[in-house]
Amino acid sequence: MHSHTTFRQLEIFEAIARLGSFTRASEELYLTQPTVSMQMKKLTENVGAPLIEHIGKRIHLTADGQQLAQATREIFAILDRFTMSVAERRGLKQGKLSLMAITTASYFAPRLLGEFARLYPGIDVSLRVTNKEQVLASIADNLDDLYFLGQPPEDIDVVATPIMDNPIVVLAAPDHPLAHARRIPLEQLAKEPWLMRERGSGTRNAIERRFAESGIAVHPRLELGSNEAIKQAILAGLGISALSRHALALNQPGQFAVLDVDGFPILRHWYAVYPAGRQLSVAARAFLDYLLGHGGDPKNPGDKARASQRAHT
Ligand code: PGA
Repeated sequence: MHSHTTFRQLEIFEAIARLGSFTRASEELYLTQPTVSMQMKKLTENVGAPLIEHIGKRIHLTADGQQLAQATREIFAILDRFTMSVAERRGLKQGKLSLMAITTASYFAPRLLGEFARLYPGIDVSLRVTNKEQVLASIADNLDDLYFLGQPPEDIDVVATPIMDNPIVVLAAPDHPLAHARRIPLEQLAKEPWLMRERGSGTRNAIERRFAESGIAVHPRLELGSNEAIKQAILAGLGISALSRHALALNQPGQFAVLDVDGFPILRHWYAVYPAGRQLSVAARAFLDYLLGHGGDPKNPGDKARASQRAHT
């Protein structure tokens, strides 16, 4: 049969076998009914045995027909896999990756990107760092491939994958009177002058929630719009604050005192998020796999992230 059978004939036969009707097969393939009948006749001749029986208005596959239908499905599946792998290789060679990170994620996202970009030099990567409001607006508009957040949005349907730990630690100047105290109660901490991030910051929300859970109010002495400004104000002796430990990535050990406070660190995660309906590009999928495989954080290997991904998605 091989020398005369065409791919088109197999395609038509597969559609008839699947849909159980010449008419529906011709509609699906945008062919006329006579074309479909003619091609089926030729295919039957090539095979040398009947493939389809007409019983009343219905059609049935003969035993040979069933075998050919199975073989055809396998051929198509192999070809589909081939087409996908070509597309994948092309996507990784010359893809685009558009990322958006919430402010504090800027401490680790560029470093992860750097390693990924070295692995896949053909992928053009862009990373925008901005505030929570804008990140949420972009997720809702489905503008970028992946978003990095400290907390997945609750009112947008997303797939959120935890990619690494994000502990929020209490920081003070190294010569602060509480620097060497043990198990400082939250009540005592609330009396300190607090330096707080702007309203809407994920870090600030997490701190306020921790105090609110214990029924304690914390009053900011100063509100500052960035982690760096907060760090400077702590060193200037203006007060204490709590920040993601990642915000200390470039500081010398010992430059800040990390206070031992009951209820801290607040254990949070960084999430890679995308809208639930979005079909991830090959490049975005590769980046997510890369994050899960490398974890970005030596203390938090990818296997852990992978295990908790199942629990969260
Ligand atoms: P930020 O951090 O909004 O305080 O910069 C993000 C988060 O931790 O949720």
